[in-house]
Amino acid sequence: MSGIDTGRAEDRGVSDIPSTQKVWHVVKKGTPEKVLKQVLDAPVPSKFPKGEVLVKVQAAALNPVGFKVMQIAPTFVAKRPYVPESDFAGVVVDANGTSFKNGESVYGWIPVPTGLKTRLGALAQYTRAPADNLVPKPPQLSAVDVSGIALACMTAYQALFDIAHLEPEQSLLVNGGSSAVGAFAVQLAKAKGCKVTATASGKNEEFVRGLGTDEFVDYTKEPLEKQLTEKPPSPKFHVIFDAVGLLDPSLYTHSPAYLAPDGIFVSTGPQPKGINAKEMKTTAKMLWEIFLRPGWLGGTKRKWRLVQVKHKKEDLEAIAQMISEGKVKPLVDSVYSFDDTLKAYEKLKSGRAKGKVVIKIDDTV
Ligand SMILES: NC(=O)c1ccc[n+]([C@@H]2O[C@H](COP(=O)([O-])OP(=O)(O)OC[C@H]3O[C@@H](n4cnc5c(N)ncnc54)[C@H](OP(=O)(O)O)[C@@H]3O)[C@@H](O)[C@H]2O)c1
Repeated sequence: MSGIDTGRAEDRGVSDIPSTQKVWHVVKKGTPEKVLKQVLDAPVPSKFPKGEVLVKVQAAALNPVGFKVMQIAPTFVAKRPYVPESDFAGVVVDANGTSFKNGESVYGWIPVPTGLKTRLGALAQYTRAPADNLVPKPPQLSAVDVSGIALACMTAYQALFDIAHLEPEQSLLVNGGSSAVGAFAVQLAKAKGCKVTATASGKNEEFVRGLGTDEFVDYTKEPLEKQLTEKPPSPKFHVIFDAVGLLDPSLYTHSPAYLAPDGIFVSTGPQPKGINAKEMKTTAKMLWEIFLRPGWLGGTKRKWRLVQVKHKKEDLEAIAQMISEGKVKPLVDSVYSFDDTLKAYEKLKSGRAKGKVVIKIDDTV
């Protein structure tokens, strides 16, 4: 175990924490309905390193990476059983000498590699997390509201500002304006003073416009690259952010028609839906177009970058500031009980959620 062991919770005057708890365990490799098992007597951690706190979880939010790791991670990466998921909100019950106080309401995340190392993620009544990964919950928002902010909003923040260096008044295309990551991207860009075009299916137009989107494109009417090539923005986009993780490279390969020459295409993916011949062929095509095909062989003359969310305290704090000022709103698609976690995964896996799918872990909240 890394860090210095600070001893038992009782020795720090923390006494009303049970020794066992309810959690969801991933017990083998596969889809959520086949590999998730509810366990009623998992241990509550009583010893953990300096810099970490123990949180009584009130709500946890699901992310696609949660079920993807369940399905594909080999045993040497994910030692089972482990408690899945990253995002949560709750109350600090053992501040363990950090700047937090016992009883303080917080939200934040456990990055996937950290959760796999401790084998304790967010789908538990009590979890441990580095204090740096948590921020205080603003009083006007509930634990359910804020439980799903950290991973998705930091992904959008890092894509737009750390990678694309988006500036005020620049124009941005968000592909997937109703996805959790995309909806945060639209709001972050509007808060920065940018012009935003976003895509979704027609049924989500009102939702996406409600986030502040200036222009809307229904990707189900005709291929997106065709619609954008026929009616390119003027000036062309400075940044395209694919918050869906398209496997088909067409939006990128056609981008010289609608992305400025010094513009940048940032992607959350590409995300194959499974391991089969068709997906493998499309993945190979995507890799060829992005990384291998040179410009003189007709390759796309636009920059392409992948965002891979990582913890940055300053990013989480900047986001927390915008959330508490109401400049960025958390978006909850649906709320499920702890016992209905498998139904929540079904909703997320449908690919149709508008914002976060949340599990209410503490029914008294
Ligand atoms: N690289 C990273 O660090 C990182 C971090 C976070 C997430 N991700 C990835 O980013 C993607 C989005 O994650 P998420 O949590 O935001 O997903 P999500 O909320 O589950 O996305 C669902 C939404 O995507 C929209 N959508 C689906 N296909 C679309 C398409 N072809 N064009 C436009 N919109 C489409 C749906 O709208 P409609 O119903 O209107 O189609 C729905 O509202 C996932 O693939 C995830 O694995 C990557």
